[in-house]
Amino acid sequence: MLVTIIGAGMMGRGIGTRVVAGGNEVELLDADVEKARVLASELAGQGAGGATGGTGGRVGGDVVVFALPYGAVVEAARQYGEQLAGKVVVDIANPVDFETMDALVTPPDSSSAEELAKAVPERTPVVKAFNTTFANTLVDGEVDGQRLDVLIAGDDDQAKNAVGRLVEAGGLRAIDVGPLRRARQLEQLGFLHISLQHRLDWGFRSAVKFLR
Ligand SMILES: NC(=O)c1ccc[n+]([C@@H]2O[C@H](COP(=O)([O-])OP(=O)(O)OC[C@H]3O[C@@H](n4cnc5c(N)ncnc54)[C@H](OP(=O)(O)O)[C@@H]3O)[C@@H](O)[C@H]2O)c1
Repeated sequence: MLVTIIGAGMMGRGIGTRVVAGGNEVELLDADVEKARVLASELAGQGAGGATGGTGGRVGGDVVVFALPYGAVVEAARQYGEQLAGKVVVDIANPVDFETMDALVTPPDSSSAEELAKAVPERTPVVKAFNTTFANTLVDGEVDGQRLDVLIAGDDDQAKNAVGRLVEAGGLRAIDVGPLRRARQLEQLGFLHISLQHRLDWGFRSAVKFLR
């Protein structure tokens, strides 16, 4: 499967690492084409899957991950517009107010994922995933010998299954947590996880994990 990742930053690297480790292909798009190409060539040398990098002209993937700051996601979705139709769109954002570090910037009755769902073409499923896994831990694929849990929310089962297969192929555990509105809880959980990093001096190396 070809996965387009828009944004060649830390999460572009983390998710891209797991995608190629699972034998799938990555297309990295970034306004800074050199940045996208450098990361793509690093990823291509790491896993069984290939990687290419370029600017945001054309979206080739069946799955499209928006690895951008929350403030840029809706605008980017509108920019890509009809190119997204029928693809699986993945929202990974933690829409934290980084000025106050005390709240989310999304409306209380919504989430980043639901706001993105309003911006994509009709019949384009949006899936929430990866917002509770830090970029460095995705590169490693594990924390303390435990594979990472990737919590997945969405209203379209086929779309969630497609993301779940990518997650599992990359050596992580996919957990379907329910409909897209569960993204509200996932984003609050992501916020809590971020807020603990300085308090407990964890250095963004911790993981949210369910055990039984
Ligand atoms: N980092 C984590 O551990 C982590 C974990 C879970 C979820 N997330 C979420 O993942 C998303 C990406 O985070 P990140 O840590 O990967 O950020 P990042 O390292 O800053 O990467 C973001 C990328 O998006 C580009 N970008 C920034 N503003 C843009 C705009 N207005 N339009 C187009 N491209 C833009 C950046 O380019 P420039 O560098 O040129 O600005 C950069 O290449 C965020 O929504 C974050 O909440 C992050």
